[in-house]
Amino acid sequence: MSALLEVTGLSRSFGEVQAVKGIDFTVAEGRCVALLGPNGAGKTTTIRMLTGLLKPTSGSIEYPGRAESADIRAGIGYLPQSPAFYPWMTGFEFVTYAGKLCGLSGAESRRSAGEWLERVGLKDAAKRRIGGYSGGMKQRLGLAQALVHGPKLLIMDEPVSALDPLGRREVLELITQLKRETTVLFSTHVLHDAEELCDDIVIIRDGRIALQGELETIRNEHRLPVIELLLEPDEVTIKWAKTFIASVDAAGEEAHRYVSRAEWRGNSMTLDVREMEGAREYLLRTLADHKVKIVRLNAGYSTLEDLFMKAVSS
Ligand SMILES: Nc1ncnc2c1ncn2[C@@H]1O[C@H](COP(=O)(O)OP(=O)(O)OP(=O)(O)O)[C@@H](O)[C@H]1O
Ligand SMILES: [Mg+2]
Repeated sequence: MSALLEVTGLSRSFGEVQAVKGIDFTVAEGRCVALLGPNGAGKTTTIRMLTGLLKPTSGSIEYPGRAESADIRAGIGYLPQSPAFYPWMTGFEFVTYAGKLCGLSGAESRRSAGEWLERVGLKDAAKRRIGGYSGGMKQRLGLAQALVHGPKLLIMDEPVSALDPLGRREVLELITQLKRETTVLFSTHVLHDAEELCDDIVIIRDGRIALQGELETIRNEHRLPVIELLLEPDEVTIKWAKTFIASVDAAGEEAHRYVSRAEWRGNSMTLDVREMEGAREYLLRTLADHKVKIVRLNAGYSTLEDLFMKAVSS
């Protein structure tokens, strides 16, 4: 798989604020990549640099397959986080105008605009003014605008965040189709959207990469055994819980042998265990020995959600 985009040591500061602090990642041709991170992580700043709208403070952005003289923007389709449209234009006029701005002739622009408006489900609304479009329609119009010139890479900044559940579904399904034809990079703060769409993830937090790689590999490598206990908050149980948590951290204790980390919140305890079978037997034994009142014991494996929460909060 050849690299379509290579980012090395990319940084950007705004005065004192370091929004992006030296990130490296690659987008391989044909992949769908999610740039995932909480609010303020640096997603929009990164995307604006990739599209040529913002100059990096340092680092490099390479599009290896591109001819030396070509404008990078010709190969990129971009849907911003809050796209702005001219409300008095019709959808067809707007997409045709975008095509001309990207260098298509009038005839090519009109032909491609008609095709893309049909693809995004706006054929019937193409002659209506954009001012009367719903949020979901505007987002689909934004996609037609981004694709009108046939880019190799589609970049979208939070393409579904501002939409209601129906609009989200429409746009997610559209992206699912588009990613079969074009390389896609999109940002989101919603892990579920990344999981649904992408092949690779780049998790950023506070301007730095917290974790990156192929989604499937990350999911398998980080699938760790976890036991959750829900307990009755009586005196005996609380006393046991306190002693137990202390012994998890004490090398030499039996609890430490089976449990690598314990978290006690409300009436529930989450335990990262070293090995499921042994840990489960040990826990059942010690809970019975100490007459701890269990409401529920849940033995399972950590999810990508757990990993994401750890990556963005630690
Ligand atoms: N033009 C600017 N001037 C000053 N600071 C900025 C500017 N743009 C972004 N920042 C700061 O850079 C950091 C990253 O912002 P950015 O918009 O890239 O985050 P984001 O991940 O896109 O967040 P969100 O999920 O809220 O869209 C934030 O601390 C933000 O306040
Ligand atoms: Mg943003």
